[in-house]
Amino acid sequence: MRLKDNVYFYPKSFDLDFVGEVNSNTVVITGQDDKLILIDPGLESRLDDLKEAIKADGLSPQDVSLIVLTHFHPDHVEGATKLAEDTGSDVLLSEKDIDFLEKIGHVFFTKTKDGYRDVPLRCPQKSLLKPLFSGPMKWGGREFRLYDTPGHSPGGMCFHWPERDLLVTGDVYFLGTIGLIKLPGGVPSDMYQSVRTLSGLMDVDLVLCGHGKPVVGREAVVDNYKALFEEIDEKIAKGIV
Ligand SMILES: [Fe+2]
Repeated sequence: MRLKDNVYFYPKSFDLDFVGEVNSNTVVITGQDDKLILIDPGLESRLDDLKEAIKADGLSPQDVSLIVLTHFHPDHVEGATKLAEDTGSDVLLSEKDIDFLEKIGHVFFTKTKDGYRDVPLRCPQKSLLKPLFSGPMKWGGREFRLYDTPGHSPGGMCFHWPERDLLVTGDVYFLGTIGLIKLPGGVPSDMYQSVRTLSGLMDVDLVLCGHGKPVVGREAVVDNYKALFEEIDEKIAKGIV
């Protein structure tokens, strides 16, 4: 669905307990050249559904020329391999999460029948991935800014498009709650700082999260940060740091 000029959002299932087929939301941005950036393709098994949804919005999935991964968890990245094969797109992921993939991240894809899922998922190969850096990024006549936001995953990154007051948060935070900090690679204090960093983006009026509903409107964005900081204060009071 189109949420703003050049900004499309494809919501999926929301299940923070990560049991069964949990799938991330996907964001698509159109460039001035009508090429598409796709952020977090989600599960490969749901890629056809995603492509149909993109077509229903009058866009062509074949026009995807860049795939950006917010972090290296399978519900966000599994479909990247197939989508890159189909479109010839580059796939970008932060270097810290490429490193995380080699050391730990791959276990998320192979664990079966133990609370993750029933069958192994397809883990993107390191050779597929190009490093994504924090700071400015130009693509398709657009100017974006990437933020290092560890805490849920070591190399988690958030994607800001100032021209549209848009923020894409991956699993750093959602509507009403911060992301999980108990998974391998999660660090509570890093997460709290990442949320504080993002809250400093004063003009953002649309937040597209990796799961769940968007945060729509500046007032809702500010109210959401209030809820997140209350949650963070509670966690710190409990000694979760
Ligand atoms: Fe995640």
